[in-house]
Amino acid sequence: MVLSSKAIFLGFAIVTTTFFNGCLAAGLNVGIHKHESLDTWFLVTERSSYVISAAANGYLVNMHWGRRLTHLDDLNATVVEPPIWSQIIPVTEAREELPVFGGLRYREAVLKAELPDGVRELNLQFAGNANISSDHGGTRLDLDLRDANRTELLVTLHYEIDVENDIIRRSYTVRNGLDGRVNLSKAFSAAWHLPYALGWDEHRELVTLAGEWAQEAMVETTRLAPGVKHTVESTRGLSDHVSQPYFALAQVPNAVNPSTEVYFGALAWTGSWEITVHTDTKGYVRVAGGIHHQDFGWTLEPGESFTTPVFAAGFTDEGLPGARLRMPRHARKIQKRNLLTQKDDDVYHPVLYNSWEAVAFDLTFEKQMELADKAAPLGVELFVVDDGWFGGRSSDTAGLGDWFTNKTKFPGGMKPLADHVHDLGMKFGLWFEMEMVNPDSDLYREHPDWVFYYEGVPRYLSRTQLVLNFGLKEVRDYMYEQAAAHIEEAGIDYIKWDFNRPMQGVTMHDYDRNPKEAWVLAVEGYYEIIARLKERFPHLWFESCSSGGGRMDLGAIERTDQIWTSDNTRPDARLFIQYGASLWVPPRSMYGWVTDSSSDANIEVPLSFRFHTSFMGGLGIGSNINEFSEEQLTEATHWIALYKKMRHVIQNGNLDWLVPPTRVGELVAATQSTYKQEEAVILAFRLNSPYPASGELSPIRARYLDENATYRVTIWQEDPENPVDEYEMSGALLMYRGLELPGLNEGMFKSAVVWLQQA
Ligand code: DGJ
Repeated sequence: MVLSSKAIFLGFAIVTTTFFNGCLAAGLNVGIHKHESLDTWFLVTERSSYVISAAANGYLVNMHWGRRLTHLDDLNATVVEPPIWSQIIPVTEAREELPVFGGLRYREAVLKAELPDGVRELNLQFAGNANISSDHGGTRLDLDLRDANRTELLVTLHYEIDVENDIIRRSYTVRNGLDGRVNLSKAFSAAWHLPYALGWDEHRELVTLAGEWAQEAMVETTRLAPGVKHTVESTRGLSDHVSQPYFALAQVPNAVNPSTEVYFGALAWTGSWEITVHTDTKGYVRVAGGIHHQDFGWTLEPGESFTTPVFAAGFTDEGLPGARLRMPRHARKIQKRNLLTQKDDDVYHPVLYNSWEAVAFDLTFEKQMELADKAAPLGVELFVVDDGWFGGRSSDTAGLGDWFTNKTKFPGGMKPLADHVHDLGMKFGLWFEMEMVNPDSDLYREHPDWVFYYEGVPRYLSRTQLVLNFGLKEVRDYMYEQAAAHIEEAGIDYIKWDFNRPMQGVTMHDYDRNPKEAWVLAVEGYYEIIARLKERFPHLWFESCSSGGGRMDLGAIERTDQIWTSDNTRPDARLFIQYGASLWVPPRSMYGWVTDSSSDANIEVPLSFRFHTSFMGGLGIGSNINEFSEEQLTEATHWIALYKKMRHVIQNGNLDWLVPPTRVGELVAATQSTYKQEEAVILAFRLNSPYPASGELSPIRARYLDENATYRVTIWQEDPENPVDEYEMSGALLMYRGLELPGLNEGMFKSAVVWLQQA
């Protein structure tokens, strides 16, 4: 055993410490380990390491996050030694695990608090307690920090590793052990520190998901620049369409190169949120994020505590494809841990029918019966009745809040339809938007104070509705009872839970605490009602919807079964939306509907193309099947049957983009869902090309196959009953030369499904 000494400059203090060179290799197996003599912890996943150390002055710093270390001498080699220019730069630059507001720190603070004596600066130091535990199938680490001056203010940092997905979940708890109130005015979930860029000619690009209603999850890349802070955020009380709580930071050039280092993360929070990325002149990058601080406030009475939402982030050296592989798998893993249903991978997400796009509010018992009769023989497994079945709801101007089945539309209530749907062999689903109310509703007339409002300030309408205050227990309890009564009475299997406007007037009345807590209470209310309903009805499946992708975040997906990605079901738009959403949404939870949608009258999109774009995740049908011809019904039946044959690959496999969709000139795109190297489904699309000579599709190179195996290749284009080609090909040829799809070389809206099965 060799002992070596090394002086480590942590930027604000010189710490002399001793490492055992190379001798701890065994200790650096996957899992969480403490150094045998130092306050240093190693969070080791299959391909990454995250190292935390308590410096001599008590500050907790990150020593490394990136490629996996196997020996401690590796760590010595990665220690950064920034020159100490002054007192200020080092502590500002220090890679503190929890940079607070206080002291000589001048970058994004993660935590800001006002203490009982009026002091608004914190000085947190490692308190000497660390706990490594294994529960919920994960490995966890808790590290205690105390304020050096007011030692009864305790902060416990929580870490949990997802070993196979190279992801760390972080949050923390603030405990007030002081005599008076502590007011939190900012409580982000974590700060993440990236190592310096690899070389002088390289830089980093920030990948974010921008958007708006019906154009969600647009992948945007921004080059990081020294001295610039980038912010992505939602201040609307929901995670929102305009930007999604996700980031990736890729080494460039060539972020899609599969050997590129990429850091990526997502916030598990369904309310207002913020992620900032700051770069300094030396290329040091800090990411911080959590609940948006704009109007955040939380008061801790003596003895109380507050825990932040989780910020999950990971590392991959396999480029954006590696990030796309890991975050969806992680989200699925947490879903399986949390959900009472759908733990088993061989319980597939159902093919659903929803008539919203076909008939909107024009719901009647007869029409829904007719649609159900048409849907069942197609192979539909879940029939969902959308908005318009309750109260005086015939448009979006009235009735929201009155959760009584409309007896004009459904004279016998919802049960006869649900029974009929069940008799046809399908599950029955119902739409709710329980956090909202139309002013023109009995509920609002009776309880105008149940909404978010300020006295003397207008109650601003959006989609003619107001937001109910789910911070109020009586509101949550009332809505829970309403939903539970319907579920019981009609035998509901599935709830589509909608949320169609941003918040305003967010405060609490007659509340002896901090009224700003309302922002958090509202989100917790949403989480609570789902949890209660799932607890009471363990069979219940949940769809998280918010005018499409308004509640598309890790917090929602970890608690529900699927996400309605966008109200835009036009298939060419869907390619872009699914390209972005698939960065973190598990494929089986990312639903796509086959609809009649096209906002452009000149565009005729074949049914095959509509099905193929919807084959990428969970499959839904939203067309007016009453208007379908016999040929269309037959075609749909065969596409659904084919989807079911290959959905174990699509729903349980990893989704990657062999050709990302591009917005210039021509549009081609191709995905590959891969299941254990044995099977893959490739979906290929060609929208058009203005260039006659070069419009041909290049061979599409598959990935992740076994180069030595032979695969049976079956290709369908417009006819689900008759493949256009079938042959055998080696994995090597499929990957290194590529797959020819001559049928996609000309014409508009051409697409193909290719099934690769090991022979
Ligand atoms: C918005 C959803 O995204 C739609 O699918 C539909 O459910 C409408 N709301 C109903 O109002």
